[in-house]
Amino acid sequence: MTVPVLTIDGPSGAGKGTVSRLVAKKLGWHYLDSGSIYRSLAIALLQQLVDLADEAEIIKIAQNIVLEFECNDDLIVKLHGENITSQLGLESTGKVASIVAALPAVRSVLLQKQKDFLKQPGLVADGRDMGTVVFPDAQNKVFLTASAAERARRRYKQLIEKGIDANLSNIIKEIEARDRRDMERETAPLVMASDALYIDSSDMSIDAVIEEVLGLIH
Ligand code: DC
Repeated sequence: MTVPVLTIDGPSGAGKGTVSRLVAKKLGWHYLDSGSIYRSLAIALLQQLVDLADEAEIIKIAQNIVLEFECNDDLIVKLHGENITSQLGLESTGKVASIVAALPAVRSVLLQKQKDFLKQPGLVADGRDMGTVVFPDAQNKVFLTASAAERARRRYKQLIEKGIDANLSNIIKEIEARDRRDMERETAPLVMASDALYIDSSDMSIDAVIEEVLGLIH
């Protein structure tokens, strides 16, 4: 029997993670945070002080990476048995993830790890190329975005709430640089699938986005 799949793609900070997790929970489906796979690879590279110009070494590490995911209320990720959850959200991790994600060989090595999440009763897959490359046959696809200014404002608020010093104009610049890297790369760039529902969450609450996404499924 085909496994139902809902893909949620979009730029960083659009709310994909929160929406995907809550929708997966409501539906009782599995959840794939594909960004965390790229981020875990980034952590492995940072730990081993790998030169980001050394493509052969990056690919070797990607091929040998062993990850475990536990998704209860929060996602817990282990890299070779070590809990790396607290490092996943760091700006430095996201930046390296976005750089190595542009390498076609890295993407093809990590492809199967993402497909392995496809299990009954269903999957919510969150990322950049879920509806275009990893699960092109998904029955339900969403492209969730928000303006760069709004995404930066949300990130700024999150950091300040955590007691971390932040600068809004630097965050906007970082977000714009990340968007450019993710959209302009040759392999699996961030683009909307032609059969996806477009949602701009700039002026929407999380609940309103979830309602719209669930409306697509029912
Ligand atoms: O969604 P995120 O911010 O956790 O993703 C981190 C980086 O990983 C993102 O900047 C680009 C890369 N990525 C990707 O290329 N393809 C995906 N499906 C998910 C993430």
